[in-house]
Amino acid sequence: MKTFANLLKKLKSKLETKDVTEKYQEFYKYALYIINSFVFSASVPALPFHITFLGSLLIYVFVFSNVAIRDSIIISGYSIFFFLSLFGLKELVLEEYLALSTYRIFFIFPYFIIPSTLFFLIERKKATYLCTILPVFAIGIIDQLNDSILSVSLSWIFGSMLSFPFLSKSRRRFSLFKVASIYGVFGAILLMVFKGGITESALFILSAIISPFISISVLYFFERVFNILTPFYLFDLQDIEHPLLVQLRQRAPGTFHHSLVVADIAYIAAKEVGANAELVRCAALYHDIGKMVRPEYFIENVGGMTAHMKINIPMSSKLVIRHVEDGEKLARSYSLPQRIIDFILEHHGTTYPEYFVKAAKKLDIQLDSRYPGPSPRSLETVIMMICDSSEAAVRSLEEYKVEKINEIISKVIKSKLEQGQFDNAPVTIQQLKRIQEAVVKALTDFYHLRISYDEKSIEKYIEMKKQTNINGEDKEISEQKRKKTG
Ligand SMILES: [Fe+2]
Ligand SMILES: [Fe+2]
Repeated sequence: MKTFANLLKKLKSKLETKDVTEKYQEFYKYALYIINSFVFSASVPALPFHITFLGSLLIYVFVFSNVAIRDSIIISGYSIFFFLSLFGLKELVLEEYLALSTYRIFFIFPYFIIPSTLFFLIERKKATYLCTILPVFAIGIIDQLNDSILSVSLSWIFGSMLSFPFLSKSRRRFSLFKVASIYGVFGAILLMVFKGGITESALFILSAIISPFISISVLYFFERVFNILTPFYLFDLQDIEHPLLVQLRQRAPGTFHHSLVVADIAYIAAKEVGANAELVRCAALYHDIGKMVRPEYFIENVGGMTAHMKINIPMSSKLVIRHVEDGEKLARSYSLPQRIIDFILEHHGTTYPEYFVKAAKKLDIQLDSRYPGPSPRSLETVIMMICDSSEAAVRSLEEYKVEKINEIISKVIKSKLEQGQFDNAPVTIQQLKRIQEAVVKALTDFYHLRISYDEKSIEKYIEMKKQTNINGEDKEISEQKRKKTG
């Protein structure tokens, strides 16, 4: 047993070296496509073989979890579901177990479940491929009913293609019903053209309407089990009534406000460079949740450094750095998706806590601490890092002038570049420039518009009023009054 475990360990470490893993991924991917095609072109006896292959794939995933393989499993699962459902229906129709006069049962098959879920679960290219190829196999499976199945297959294919652009704009689960109606009506019109039956078209629309009920449950399952971040899941996570955000608002109101501002700015910057803006906005809300464990050590919550006066500088630095680790723990305990946890871990990268390091240097204290990282590995986490540091730096300014804000953000980016924080991220210098411009504009708009109602501004207001108004009225109105009375 021990020898077997050792053997497995050795095999795992060998496969975990990057190039070997990639080779295996490619191998599994193509083998899966070939076998899928083989299974579908063959008949039932090949099914156990398909299931065996899927079983071996599952084992592979549990030992070496990997995203590309996850896609393959989803594709396989869908293929088997589709194959079994259609084959089962065909058998029931042929045996005359189904009352809905024979072949018509195929028009009520809720095919929309497949495009409306696959679109969010795997790459768009793969989803398009599968939604086109499955109906073609359907023709092969149900060969006895060729005429009907051909017309319904075409409606499935073209209906799916039409629904994709609408699905890409969907943000709420409920919008699946809207897309389903478009798919249903379009498919029904196609059926009228190909087949000419009103009953068939009505059944097709009915199938479209019932599909989203199942799609929503299927998506919910995949989101939670496979940790897939769909737009709907992102939308749910952005609800400020999420328990983690409610706690953040109550325990660390300053951090909560900072997170809201960063989310807003990062969203604009992400849009500017074509990154996943929804993801950035959502993750920004959670990036500092770890601060709520010890909110008193963060200046934005207490407006000062009182808590740090009771401890030494290395301890202060350690506690501040800890918010990354605490955030990760909190996120995991609330089962936040890994993509969001990446933002918590990467938003400080492997930088050093500047404030304490500079203070320690001036006081001749040895301090060599850094955030645990890793450094950003995606364009989205790069944006998060820049916006987070920029907001914190700009907030402390006394005057919000564009030149000054630009200078600060330029310094922030330069410092991160010098510390090698963008070395592992797919970001170009041009993109960094565009991010900088977007952040400067967003921060200027945000802070510049804040009107302060202090004594100075009241005096300035009175001065301006005196120049434009006479006794509280506009010059123009007073002029008109004078003309009337005169
Ligand atoms: Fe942070
Ligand atoms: Fe932050």
